[in-house]
Amino acid sequence: MSEDFLPIKGMDHVEFYVGNAKQAAHYYRTGFGFTHTAYSGLETGNRQTASYVMEQGKIRLVLTTALGPDHPVSRHTYLHGDGVAVIAMEVPDAASAYAESTKRGATGAIAPTAVEDEYGVFRYSAIRCYGDTIIKFVDRSGYRGPFSPGYAARNGANGQNGRHKGVGLASIDHMVGNVELGAMNRWVEFFAHTMGFSQLLHFDDKDISTEYSALMSKVMQNGNGKIKFPINEPAEGKKKSQIQEYLDYYYGPGVQHIACTTGNIIETVTQLQENGIEFLRVPTTYYEVLEERVGKINEPVDKLAELGILVDRDEEGYLLQIFTKPVEDRPTVFYEIIERHGSRGFGKGNFKALFESIEREQALRGNL
Ligand code: FE2
Repeated sequence: MSEDFLPIKGMDHVEFYVGNAKQAAHYYRTGFGFTHTAYSGLETGNRQTASYVMEQGKIRLVLTTALGPDHPVSRHTYLHGDGVAVIAMEVPDAASAYAESTKRGATGAIAPTAVEDEYGVFRYSAIRCYGDTIIKFVDRSGYRGPFSPGYAARNGANGQNGRHKGVGLASIDHMVGNVELGAMNRWVEFFAHTMGFSQLLHFDDKDISTEYSALMSKVMQNGNGKIKFPINEPAEGKKKSQIQEYLDYYYGPGVQHIACTTGNIIETVTQLQENGIEFLRVPTTYYEVLEERVGKINEPVDKLAELGILVDRDEEGYLLQIFTKPVEDRPTVFYEIIERHGSRGFGKGNFKALFESIEREQALRGNL
């Protein structure tokens, strides 16, 4: 057990750089059921960017766009399309997190910074992660304002910005990164040595290959188990790996998917589908052999089949999961919705059916 030199309270937020934050915010509100809780932009004195803080359960997304072509946010979206730029974790001490991680080899991105306004002191720092992604350390213990300095609260003010009842998304279960062929172990080492994470699981190409595309994956988690970061790299297959397709369209490594927990996946997915969110589908034959494979579960199989929800079981219990299609035109970032009943796994038993489904989509895009 490694010494926890970098204590983390939990995920703080995930910041996307996007081409049009106003429209993205509308999609996350009407599609995924998030509430717009804070805003920074021209109206709050921010001349460079516009940011929308979107919340549901414990999940906080920040959607940021640049107001001009030369801003780094514009360069990020020009290169990567809409994507995750910042993975922010709440820590008790942002300066210590920066010192401890950079001392162990992390590259600094933002030196420890304290910003003070009428709500208190907001402290943060950041280090570089895979690709152009950064990991931000946020200490909001001395701050009582909306999100962070420069933001104004936006909740329940009117119909358009009113609090959304949500679709039951509760927290971030894990966030997966895709890196280049041969780079997975380097990033596993990064999380182990510079951040004190340990390896929870690994999947090799025998676990997760289909006829054509393959990948390898290792799951890293922090000391208290609250943060889980699987890292994928492409593996050699007959045709193009789904990870390589991501890398080709994201123009480098980055976050592939964010898994959100729900306490009732049937209700959550029913609402998401009503809202127009598109999910991957597996053939109906998957459900004909489901109970044989996973045994007794609480949910009606016909309902799971109707919605396309997948099930897997291990020694500790079972889990239900489903994956959206990419949420932008480039085949890059997507979401997973997951409900856990004891299992701490990632749905290994679904990999084959799921990846065949992904390959059908890749083929439609001309990328297999
Ligand atoms: Fe996942």
